[in-house]
Amino acid sequence: MKIAMLMDKNTRAQVLDQETIRRFATHGELAWNETEQNETENAKRIIRGADVAVTSWGSPPMTKELLDEAPGLKLVLHAAGSVKPIVTEEMYRRGIRIISSAYVLSSGVSETALGLTIASCKNFFSLNQEIRQGGWSHTDITDLYGITVGIVGFGIAGSHFAELLANFSVKVISYDLYVPAPRMEALGVEKVEFEELLRRSDVVSLHAPSIDETYHMINSKTLQKMKDGAILINTARGSLVDQEALIHALESGKLKAACLDVTDPEPPAPDSRLRTLPNCILTPHLAGQAGNGLRKIGLHCCLELERFLAGKPLLYGVTEEMLARMA
Ligand SMILES: NC(=O)c1ccc[n+]([C@@H]2O[C@H](COP(=O)([O-])OP(=O)(O)OC[C@H]3O[C@@H](n4cnc5c(N)ncnc54)[C@H](O)[C@@H]3O)[C@@H](O)[C@H]2O)c1
Repeated sequence: MKIAMLMDKNTRAQVLDQETIRRFATHGELAWNETEQNETENAKRIIRGADVAVTSWGSPPMTKELLDEAPGLKLVLHAAGSVKPIVTEEMYRRGIRIISSAYVLSSGVSETALGLTIASCKNFFSLNQEIRQGGWSHTDITDLYGITVGIVGFGIAGSHFAELLANFSVKVISYDLYVPAPRMEALGVEKVEFEELLRRSDVVSLHAPSIDETYHMINSKTLQKMKDGAILINTARGSLVDQEALIHALESGKLKAACLDVTDPEPPAPDSRLRTLPNCILTPHLAGQAGNGLRKIGLHCCLELERFLAGKPLLYGVTEEMLARMA
């Protein structure tokens, strides 16, 4: 069996450790991309005659031109977040299966959402500034006790966030257009409409995909519906939030704080108010696995390959039907 490792050299170093490489090698001959390039021409050479391809950030789309080089290709293991940049109709037409690593990244997202929830509720960021300026107070501290957390989008990250929150004495409610109430209730979560979520939540955490329907779902109107002094957390995508409206809500004190791991554009413009507002907490799109955690992705792909080879169902396969609702 030939396994084409299409990801460039730099990405490979981030997502694969030596142990995982050895594990892949027990299943077949590995063909490597030894360059820092991701062009189709280069990929065509590496994928030639392969049965399995491993792709990642920057890998070229699986076009007919590329797939013609590997008529026996059966499986693409995408060692990155969304499969959308590489997936094509042509792949599905040929019956090639694709697996996503979004699940692995999303556990980092939900852990980040939890960290930001605790830090902003307990006012870490502002009290840190206060102490640096000579102060010492216990202003505006909220424990994760008796408050309501609203999760917008109950997919991989949103539902994992709910599992993490189950360890605290908080009420969790969620809005998701497609996830039925019983799936939420199984995790102790109440399904609500968007407006009700905004009205009831002390913390609103966004976990929906960036699609037309979610563009600026947080805007001047929906911000007005939020509780006074609520906290907004966005680890999903910047396009979900109308930033001008958010800046206004932060300046006016309508919101206590916003914690943004993602913005639109990214990074924020050098003169963006988001960079200077004291109640806006920014992190550089690090919520998914960003450091050592990235190597979990390589192992996850190898485990899916092993399930595939053993004739077991893939756990993280993405069908054509799933694409429209997915991040
Ligand atoms: N900050 C980071 O580093 C990072 C890393 C990975 C993922 N993300 C982002 O996190 C978000 C969640 O990722 P995921 O892997 O959990 O995605 P997912 O596809 O598993 O979940 C998205 C959920 O949103 C729901 N949804 C779709 N349209 C909706 C709508 N109009 N209104 C309400 N809900 C809707 C879907 O039903 C689904 O349950 C995405 O925006 C993704 O891009 C960010």
